[in-house]
Amino acid sequence: MTAPETDTPATESDAPSTETLRERALASLLTARDRTTLLTTCVEEPDLTAQHSPLMSPLVWDLAHIGNQEELWLLRAVGGREAMRPEIDGLYDAFEHPRAERLSLPLLPPGEARRYAAEVRGRALDLLEGADFTGTRLTEAGFAFGMIAQHEQQHDETMLITHQLRTGPQALTAPDPEPAPPFTGPAEVLVPGGPFTMGTSTEPWALDNERPAHPVDVAPFWIDTTPVTNAAYQAFIGDGGYDTERWWTPEGWAHVRQHSLNAPQFWFREGGQWLRRRFGVTEVVPCEEPVLHVCWYEADAYARWAGRRLPTEAEWEKAARHDPATGRSRRYPWGDAEPAPEHANLGQRHLRPAPAGSYPAGASPLGVRQLIGDVWEWTASDFLPYPGFTAFPYKEYSEVFFGPEYKVLRGGSFAVDPVACRGTFRNWDYPVRRQIFSGFRTARSEAV
Ligand code: AVJ
Ligand code: FE
Repeated sequence: MTAPETDTPATESDAPSTETLRERALASLLTARDRTTLLTTCVEEPDLTAQHSPLMSPLVWDLAHIGNQEELWLLRAVGGREAMRPEIDGLYDAFEHPRAERLSLPLLPPGEARRYAAEVRGRALDLLEGADFTGTRLTEAGFAFGMIAQHEQQHDETMLITHQLRTGPQALTAPDPEPAPPFTGPAEVLVPGGPFTMGTSTEPWALDNERPAHPVDVAPFWIDTTPVTNAAYQAFIGDGGYDTERWWTPEGWAHVRQHSLNAPQFWFREGGQWLRRRFGVTEVVPCEEPVLHVCWYEADAYARWAGRRLPTEAEWEKAARHDPATGRSRRYPWGDAEPAPEHANLGQRHLRPAPAGSYPAGASPLGVRQLIGDVWEWTASDFLPYPGFTAFPYKEYSEVFFGPEYKVLRGGSFAVDPVACRGTFRNWDYPVRRQIFSGFRTARSEAV
């Protein structure tokens, strides 16, 4: 096996300067707070302090937790400050209290939570102004600021999931994606076999589980050009997919039987067609949109029904990053440039995925579309550390979750901000979860 190119930037001058990183940190923190504010002001106070689902925290918990993590990592760890309110740390430690129990805690009420988060933010911006981004791994390249902006955006996606689970009238609106001409390209593309560089050692704000860069040899495989659509998924349903044991793993079959699953979450059948509820609006399920709100078991069963399988995590990343012309791994399918609106559906610009085949400018070198944005894509793989992994800066971000009980999702949804999305980014969840913005694409091994 020949050593592939590393993931170093194409030229040294591509490494961002301290001032560029400071501006990026500032912009990322401000963008995140605007979104947090939107998600926590578009509903009345009773909705902030309600338990909308046992799977989710009350929105007011996320709000203060965002502030508390910022205080812990920026003000205390980087800035060396004293705790502002040591008595609240335990309330907002995600490991001390399960989501369904947080409402019974003496949480800060909405006004106080907002003031606390704003006060932390004011001090964090002061710190950012004078930060020199050198010295420790936490400060290098503004890592802690990038990590905290990503953390807030991750909770913003979590809060958007809470909004989707909430019943009641519509609280959020956004324009729909541009209608796309029907996709006429090939249904799948062949990714040639051979080694590629998986993960990264050079992306400044990559989180611990994305590191380090390491070579992985991947056998040739075919992968879907677009995510699986609602139309394709309806064909699986119509063919009795949910009633046919052989498409399912034993655990998946037990799960669909026990919970009487017969369609993606939020779908219901009326007047001979499939409808769905999406952020308080009921609509006909759009045929050309990537399927959303399926669990890993459903994705896996669909793939088997289609005579295919889910891609492994390494296959997914090779399809998304490997440039066959140079052997280099790109930051994104389209190259190394930061995501722009023409590349991908990210950042809650829209409240839904774009039709399959959208964003030709975001395609990979082999023509695979929508790898980034639209829907999180389930992979076949368990969430495991890469060779050489070290937990940083805390074991509870990734390390405590490694193991076979979690499956990896890749690529990010319409609800992921660009700061928390790249070709190396890894998400994970239990195989039964489907309130998340999850879909999938399928693959098959190259016949030998
Ligand atoms: C990476 C999305 C699985 O929300 O549980 C937020 C992100 N970690 N606060 C999660 C996270 C700590 C995490 N996921
Ligand atoms: Fe968190």
